[in-house]
Amino acid sequence: TGLHSLFLSAGKLYFGTATETNNFADPTYQNILSNPLEFGQLTPENSQKWGLIQPQPGDFSFNASDQVASLANSYNHLLRCHTLTWHSQLPPFVSSTSWTPDTLRQLITTHITSVISHFGSACYAWDVVNEALNENGTFRNSVFFNVLGEEYIAHSFEVAREVAPPETKLYYNDFNLETAPEKQTAAVELVKSLQSKGVKIDGVGLQAHFTVGQTPSVESLIATLQRFADLGVDVAWTELDVAQEDVETASELAVEQQASDYVVAVRACLEVERCVGVTVWQFTDRYSWVPGTFPGKGGACLWTEDYQRKPAYWAVKRFLEGW
Ligand code: G3I
Repeated sequence: TGLHSLFLSAGKLYFGTATETNNFADPTYQNILSNPLEFGQLTPENSQKWGLIQPQPGDFSFNASDQVASLANSYNHLLRCHTLTWHSQLPPFVSSTSWTPDTLRQLITTHITSVISHFGSACYAWDVVNEALNENGTFRNSVFFNVLGEEYIAHSFEVAREVAPPETKLYYNDFNLETAPEKQTAAVELVKSLQSKGVKIDGVGLQAHFTVGQTPSVESLIATLQRFADLGVDVAWTELDVAQEDVETASELAVEQQASDYVVAVRACLEVERCVGVTVWQFTDRYSWVPGTFPGKGGACLWTEDYQRKPAYWAVKRFLEGW
């Protein structure tokens, strides 16, 4: 057995991981990634983001993301596609043009239409809008919000719905929904507001970037997932990792704490019916985003840099076996 096969036995759809083409040349990495017992879902970590997929107006570059999609297809893994309307990793032509509401709306329409049509039914789900909220619950400033106001969110979902195959799940995705109460409430209000306008949304992705010892309790995580599920949408942990605050000095206790934090996150998903699955944001420390963004922090994944399974891996596995 492995994490994905145990997730299936628990009635969930997948256990998955973020991955990227620049990792594929590494045979040890490939071996684990392709193991159908461990993983049943992939998310391209970067290659579907706007700056990489449409770097110049009308110039679409699908090469890298196609490789991730075809790998997922050849392994029979589901593909969560990531992401369409996001303030970050935008190419200069999007962030620095003086748009009018009409021209920006049209730009979003073209982008979403082209990208979703390209992948078609290869995407089990799309993170249509990513990280639109601030921690205090207000809308994040971005070229999209500044020109169109919150309307850009409904517009993105409407365009996506129009062009995506009907079975594609359309998600709102964000971080710290688990830990920032005002942001969580704002995301709930956002889903309700879309629904009240007749804009269909299928899921809320909670990124679940946690820090060892600061991961919320299982009760709190269950309540968070259930609060969104009660709106009639699917939920998922879409980018789970649990970072050591100071990876160099992490004690044995911190290693055990990380294991129990991972179990808490996985258990919360199993306890909530509408939680469809869990995606880790890379499975090995070798390719984790954490140290690059937060120097000193790290060790966030289930496998070490040299592909040893960590106590957190074994704890999650034991937990699933006993579920
Ligand atoms: O591709 C260039 C390369 O040409 C250049 O030489 C190199 C030098 O720094 O940078 C490369 O780009 C990097 C890119 O990852 C691809 O590796 C960027 O600098 C780096 O900032 C970028 O980081 C990504 C980050 O999103 C950007 O916001 C991380 O890999 C990726 O894990 C992270 O993922 C996000 C999710 O999409 C949304 N939620 C949060 C999550 C973590 O930040």
